[in-house]
Amino acid sequence: MKILAFETSCDDTAVAIVENGTKVLASVRVSQLEHDKYGGVVPEIAARLHSENWRGTLEECLNLAGISEKEIDALAVTNGPGLQTSLFTGTTAASFLSLLCQKPLIPVHHIFGHMSSIWLDQNPAKFSRNLSSNLNLNKSPSKLELISEKFPVLVLTVSGGHTEFFLQKNMTDVVRLGGTLDDAAGEAFDKVAKMLGLGYPGGPIVGNRAEDGDREKYKFPQPMLGKESLDFSFSGVKSAVYREIEAEKKKYENFAGFSQNFINDVCASFEKTVAEIFIKKIKRAIAQNPEVKAVHFVGGVSANEYLRKNLAKFIESQGRELQIPAKFEYCTDNAAMIGSAAFWLYQKNSEIAKIQYVDANSRLKI
Ligand code: KG4
Ligand code: ZN
Repeated sequence: MKILAFETSCDDTAVAIVENGTKVLASVRVSQLEHDKYGGVVPEIAARLHSENWRGTLEECLNLAGISEKEIDALAVTNGPGLQTSLFTGTTAASFLSLLCQKPLIPVHHIFGHMSSIWLDQNPAKFSRNLSSNLNLNKSPSKLELISEKFPVLVLTVSGGHTEFFLQKNMTDVVRLGGTLDDAAGEAFDKVAKMLGLGYPGGPIVGNRAEDGDREKYKFPQPMLGKESLDFSFSGVKSAVYREIEAEKKKYENFAGFSQNFINDVCASFEKTVAEIFIKKIKRAIAQNPEVKAVHFVGGVSANEYLRKNLAKFIESQGRELQIPAKFEYCTDNAAMIGSAAFWLYQKNSEIAKIQYVDANSRLKI
């Protein structure tokens, strides 16, 4: 089953074609560099660029996959959550194609999309060490039961717009365990970068600068929010970084910019703090859900090498494995993950795929 998917929930216009939830035939993404000068995404600009870019992105995707529109079995689109005007360009484009080409359209929750990014270009069977499944990716895995042995898993989805914990009981059955009460972790990375004048998006830049810094130099808070809580809070960490930055400025009578060492040390200490918060929360989540067989780490922040390394080490010490998307491009927003998610949703209930107009919902609940 070949699904043509659209993702426009924030500032990337993305189109992909995915076969049977796992095989990516083409995945194209056009980023919007115009937001750089504002230090964050401007919704009005994002919507304008999506509507300018979507047709070109679609054509490039079909060309890359080398298939015609006739070979597409269904369409998929992110219908929320995200920026309303950005979502709206994607849902309008996909709905228009559904009605015009008479193709069924499957709406997909953005975070369930991130959760499904783990299956892209991977054989689900390989995920469980003790799995005897003979799942063959060249054939359609028509029964979700084939891969049910690898569940339940703990999923940490971390990006610019969300930081959430889920217990995934099977491919489409997810229970939310907790999430951020204020800033998302990616947002905190972006704000730290902005305070240090490093540009946007800040995550990759902070990650690079941290490599040359002293991780012990500054101590930032690690809010645990009570003994049992699986929620997160990053606004206090961000404020502590802000106070350190202001104190540094005050040290000099004629402040002329931060030293490279200061920038690197703040980035390194901040990154270490985020890693320790995640590790402590994962430890708690496993203790509360000892049946989990693995931990999945997805979303833009899962591209971070330091976090990957440290989380993997800890999770292995707990007798479980850390799983991450097969490619960096599947961590950040992309349409392939939406094509994968749509396939699993369709496997569960084929009635969700209809020739239809799908509305955008910026506050869609999972
Ligand atoms: O998943 P995503 O593309 O968009 C949302 O759904 O929000 O995530 C974007 C976020 C940004 O905050 C960006 O700074 C962060 O992911 N990010 C990173 C890295 N690459 C992207 N954060 C830390 N380290 C990275 N290497
Ligand atoms: Zn996202």
